[in-house]
Amino acid sequence: MPFKYLFSKGKQLQSLTDATIQSLTNVTESIITYTWKEIASLFGLQDDIYKNPLHKPLKKPVKAILIGAGNRGNTYADYALLHPDELNIVGVADGNAIRNGRFARKHSVDAVNRFYAWEQVFEREKFADAVIIATPDNIHAAPCLRALEKGYDVLLEKPIAPTEEECRLILNTAKAKGRIVGVCHVLRYSPYFRQLKHIIESKTIGDVVSIQHLEPIEAIHMAHSYVRGNWRNSKETSPIVLAKSCHDTDIIRWLINEPAEYIQCFGGLNLFKIENAPEGSTERCIDGCAVESTCPFSALQIYYRDRKRGYVFDLPKDSRKAGKVILKKLATTNYGRCVYRMDNDQPDHLTINMQFKNNITAAFSMEAFTSYEGRFTRVMGTRGDIVGDMESYTITDFKTGKETSWSLKTDYHGGGDHRLVKDWVQAVGHRDAAILSSLIDVSVESHLMAFAAERSRLSRTIEKIIV
Ligand SMILES: NC(=O)c1ccc[n+]([C@@H]2O[C@H](COP(=O)([O-])OP(=O)(O)OC[C@H]3O[C@@H](n4cnc5c(N)ncnc54)[C@H](O)[C@@H]3O)[C@@H](O)[C@H]2O)c1
Repeated sequence: MPFKYLFSKGKQLQSLTDATIQSLTNVTESIITYTWKEIASLFGLQDDIYKNPLHKPLKKPVKAILIGAGNRGNTYADYALLHPDELNIVGVADGNAIRNGRFARKHSVDAVNRFYAWEQVFEREKFADAVIIATPDNIHAAPCLRALEKGYDVLLEKPIAPTEEECRLILNTAKAKGRIVGVCHVLRYSPYFRQLKHIIESKTIGDVVSIQHLEPIEAIHMAHSYVRGNWRNSKETSPIVLAKSCHDTDIIRWLINEPAEYIQCFGGLNLFKIENAPEGSTERCIDGCAVESTCPFSALQIYYRDRKRGYVFDLPKDSRKAGKVILKKLATTNYGRCVYRMDNDQPDHLTINMQFKNNITAAFSMEAFTSYEGRFTRVMGTRGDIVGDMESYTITDFKTGKETSWSLKTDYHGGGDHRLVKDWVQAVGHRDAAILSSLIDVSVESHLMAFAAERSRLSRTIEKIIV
């Protein structure tokens, strides 16, 4: 039985029961949304998008060491708690004592296998099958290369590395050593993008002619991560088009299934700079800033009053104690500083035009100033089109005008995180790289597109992509 949703002008309002829908009188439009199985049956597609004939039971769980026990590292490692027969975490390296301790307790890691700096892991003889690398962007390449030298397979957070040279070096080393390097392009594993890929490959909408893709960051998220946070300065981490949007260059390339040939990018930083600092604003929001009560980016409001994004502070569970810790962090860390007085340089908006083989084009925008986040995709084919927003999509057939819609609520990675880990564990456990979609080999291409986009933005050129 298809699930019913109420739409108005193409926007989903809420999920409702049949009776409620019938009782409403002012509905402008109502659309039945189908499950994937129903869509697959309508268009003659594979009904299980995650079915992989190469998946087989493992003889024993893959043993992995986590390097970087922060937000992402914990997300991937949690897979081991849910599937101990597939993955065991046997070591951890993180310089943050609180995170190191919490992680070691969660995964029962032996004291002898706890390290503070990633280098210490490789001073020991190899004691696991693989390492998961989830350290900051500029600490990906070095541990990855050391892991490959030591004979470990790797699950590597994106971006692979902040420079083209390092990306190519990792690719070449992985090939030379015959090791598996999976890259965390998690969107490939989300139901939304998986289904779009199946629909496009089946030619349901004919041949793809172009794609429009939007990545709304959401204004407060922008301020948190790319103005105050660890990704604020491209020279210390990597350009935002790589750090944030390599997911999108990867997805666009994957959906189009042709190599990108040319790329052009415009964009810049409009708001978060010193010349825009309001009169009466202070170095820190807690310093008696005259505009704190009206500023949308007030750190006091975001972290202290609204208690949002506090995971960066490793807060205690007791909310009164947590409040004290937050105020101390606002007085001492970048998260308490005025958004107009940082050392940030990441663009707050950018657009990319891409030319692919066979005259297929794509237009991509990354936007900080939105009240929402997620991904919005429009795929234009010769027989129909697809309009989607990560949680739903509609396929329209040009001949019949028939609309077919799908809808599912998930997190912003569309539920892709653990599906990626599952495929990686299978690939490592069976020593078969073909199981994994986001291998280093294909992932490098999305990074070359991002590097070329950044060169284009800075020098106002059209860049040729050389893979
Ligand atoms: N795939 C995705 O969708 C996605 C999403 C967000 C972030 N990321 C990427 O994941 C990576 C980690 O991001 P995060 O949000 O988890 O950051 P985080 O700050 O929460 O975690 C990073 C951890 O690395 C540790 N660390 C730093 N230097 C270290 C060293 N020398 N040795 C050992 N540990 C060290 C830190 O203490 C921290 O706990 C980044 O590269 C980021 O760009 C990917």
